Amino acid sequence: MTTQELKQKFVLKYGEGQHKEHVFYAPGRVNLIGEHIDYNGGYVLPAALEFGTTLVVRERNDNKIHFASANLSFEITLDIHDIGEEKTGEWIDYPIGVMVELKKIACPLTKGYDLLFHGDIPNGAGLSSSASLEVVTAYAFLTMEGKEKDTVEIARLSQRAENQYVGVNSGIMDQFAVANGKLDHAILLMCDTLEYKHVPFVTGSYKLVIGNTNKRRGLVDSAYNERRQQCEVALECLQKEVPALTYLAQLKPDQYETLQVHIEDETVRRRAEHVVKENQRVLDSVEALSANNLEEFGQLMNQSHESLRFLYEVSCDELDVMVDEAQRIPGTLGARMTGAGFGGCTVSLVHEDSVEQFVKQVGENYKTRTGLEGEFYVCGVGDGVKELKEEI
Ligand code: GLA
Repeated sequence: MTTQELKQKFVLKYGEGQHKEHVFYAPGRVNLIGEHIDYNGGYVLPAALEFGTTLVVRERNDNKIHFASANLSFEITLDIHDIGEEKTGEWIDYPIGVMVELKKIACPLTKGYDLLFHGDIPNGAGLSSSASLEVVTAYAFLTMEGKEKDTVEIARLSQRAENQYVGVNSGIMDQFAVANGKLDHAILLMCDTLEYKHVPFVTGSYKLVIGNTNKRRGLVDSAYNERRQQCEVALECLQKEVPALTYLAQLKPDQYETLQVHIEDETVRRRAEHVVKENQRVLDSVEALSANNLEEFGQLMNQSHESLRFLYEVSCDELDVMVDEAQRIPGTLGARMTGAGFGGCTVSLVHEDSVEQFVKQVGENYKTRTGLEGEFYVCGVGDGVKELKEEI
């Protein structure tokens, strides 16, 4: 749906108003490499997608706030003073969580608004549809209320909304990528300090192909929390030897080699090994990308998948089959699962001449081997959150 069409839907729904409509947009994200590293204080390399969540907002003359979506059926009207009283279990919990957080930082809504959201990101596919919804809401209200918009603070605030209001214990990567994305650039983010830099993601005749397994990510919450705990156990064991260690990802692979004997539990040891080596792969990837060595970057993507599969154990049959089929295509430089795992998406780097064959062959073989219909998005790297002023 174009911005114009969404604006027309808005006017059809809410009528002509005295105030001006404003349109905001936040993308989804794909993580190129550095999986399950954000909560371990290391480096990640996500990028903003070219599709996301659009929000049309208009001020009202009362204290009511009306939430509606052009692609999800649930809608509701609340008084701005009652925001956050009760969770609904619906998509509006994400924007409401953000409003609760805005209030905590002394930016409460001072007037009512009509809102119409529209999302292009498949829900539950691990492409951060929820972070996109949170970040677009935070950016829109800070703008509408005339407050400062610091995109790092917006990422933090949106993460708190997800952790505290929605109740999902995720790290900072998704909200950060959505808030700070830049056209044709990946984001090298140090998750401990939130220092970051934009790294040119110029892939010439190679395209990013995202493959959606369409496998619902059933186990993801409990397994995610379990992985976080295992990393904490590993950290506690190693802190007895290195008291200054605050995060697992601070260790270099060779330091870890010598220290690993101090982790008794074999499973916990494998989790820690993934974290330390994956963190190094992110730094190696940035070097490879700067040197325009896409083959090397592809190899690192493949290694990342192996590690997530065998050491961190967050992959699943569907992801493994899709990655395996992707890696068989001659024009594929690398392929891996992306996001939390247990379903969701893969990301591959594929030569443009092979993309058609990729979509056909990977799609067919994936269906034969899993019984599921995969979906593929050939996409570039887009911008982070913004107001769409020029287009209206
Ligand atoms: C999910 C979380 C992120 C991150 C990834 C794994 O997307 O929301 O914070 O931990 O999983 O890299």
